Amino acid sequence: MDKEKDLGKDQFIPVSYRKAARRVKRFLKTLNTAFRNAQLYEETHPMFEEGAKSFFVAISELLEEQEEGEIAFHFYEGEIIVDEVPFPEESNLFSSLIAELESREIGSIEIREGVKLGEVKDFLSIISLQADEILKRGGASLLLQEKGVMNIKVAPVKPLSSLRESGEEKGEVYEIAREAYYFALETVEEVMSEVERKRPFAVFKARKAVQMLVDCVLQDRGALLGLAALKSYDKYTYHHSVNTLVLSLALGSVILTERVSLGYLGLSALLHDVGKVLVPREITRKPGPLTSEEWEYMERHPAYGAKILLNIPSLHKITAVVAFEHHLGFDGNGYPKIRVPRKPHLFSRIVEICDAYDAATSERPYRKAATPDGVMNSLIEASGREFDPLLMRFFINLLGVYPVGSLVKLTTGEIAVVVKENPLNLTRPQIKVFLDKKGNILKEPIFYDLSKNEEISISTSLPYEAVKKISYQRFLRD
Ligand SMILES: [Fe+2]
Ligand SMILES: [Fe+2]
Repeated sequence: MDKEKDLGKDQFIPVSYRKAARRVKRFLKTLNTAFRNAQLYEETHPMFEEGAKSFFVAISELLEEQEEGEIAFHFYEGEIIVDEVPFPEESNLFSSLIAELESREIGSIEIREGVKLGEVKDFLSIISLQADEILKRGGASLLLQEKGVMNIKVAPVKPLSSLRESGEEKGEVYEIAREAYYFALETVEEVMSEVERKRPFAVFKARKAVQMLVDCVLQDRGALLGLAALKSYDKYTYHHSVNTLVLSLALGSVILTERVSLGYLGLSALLHDVGKVLVPREITRKPGPLTSEEWEYMERHPAYGAKILLNIPSLHKITAVVAFEHHLGFDGNGYPKIRVPRKPHLFSRIVEICDAYDAATSERPYRKAATPDGVMNSLIEASGREFDPLLMRFFINLLGVYPVGSLVKLTTGEIAVVVKENPLNLTRPQIKVFLDKKGNILKEPIFYDLSKNEEISISTSLPYEAVKKISYQRFLRD
């Protein structure tokens, strides 16, 4: 039953990755020297010549190994990505070079077979100009064309998702967020099954899914909160992972504003339970409460998760830290047991709250789902011990007593879905009634802003899964 021994070191690092990492490093190293030399010396100087030559030799060797006769390097938010695979360690080593390229709006470099030393030299003298000079003269790509450089192409930095600049309307953000939510669901299914088969998974796809949701949260946090109410109505097994991701991004964005940090937080949240694939299925899917022996196995999933994630070099180490710590508790007293209790990392504390909230509000084969306000109360009770009290306060402000997407029964007997929280009066959100008091579905849902409608009140909240046959989530949109 113990699968721990199967997890040998480097098991998840394919040879092809290690080889590619070496090539990327060589490329960056020679480019770095050539770039620095070009900034310091004239084209005719031997140092310029020397730098250009070794860069030229490095790319010729790289091209020889490439079947397609061309090679492309992409830079994105401080990282180098080749064939959709990020190389965090190599990016760290050459972070200032990548930052300088990005400041010159160079987001990718494509080099084709047949490239000449002269072209490499022209490329170096162009990119070594000051950033504002390059931009003033129309950009590096245009300057290369003017010089007649055919075999080296550069393109501007392209965000993974173009959402950020497009300034979508609110409804559209919700639609995009919903799409991203289902993309994340598909991705996490894939990730889990690859891990189960001990194969490397598509880190790039997982990052893309996370980044799409990061873009959404930065535009409209509310659009994301509604998503976490999309519980398990369909074929997907991993709603919990994606709900934890969505809630963590919403909570994280209260204190973090940088896309990069939110990206790491999101990826950590998405993968927090990855270790469960190594716990026997009879335990993880048991339709009843676990015995103490089974619990012992279950409590290994954070350590299993950390091990799996540490062995994936293209992932930031923080994902492993969060996987390890997400049941540790604010006072360090949860599990796995650690010798000296300590406060977990900020990301772990965020994920811990969101994980607990989503787990308790979801139905399990052996227990009913609790109501969101009931769960919120028990989380508040455990605040300071299990949960970070300050983050908990942010979480309550964010979700309100009745979170967006949750179901409520009114004093009139009708059933409604909460469509928007009211920060000034947490018990009187905006709602849409869709079932009359006899339980008949209304043709058109009726909107009420309870803060302006004194006659109607919420009598109780209902579990998310109380209404199963009606996809009431659609009322959040229009
Ligand atoms: Fe967990
Ligand atoms: Fe979890």
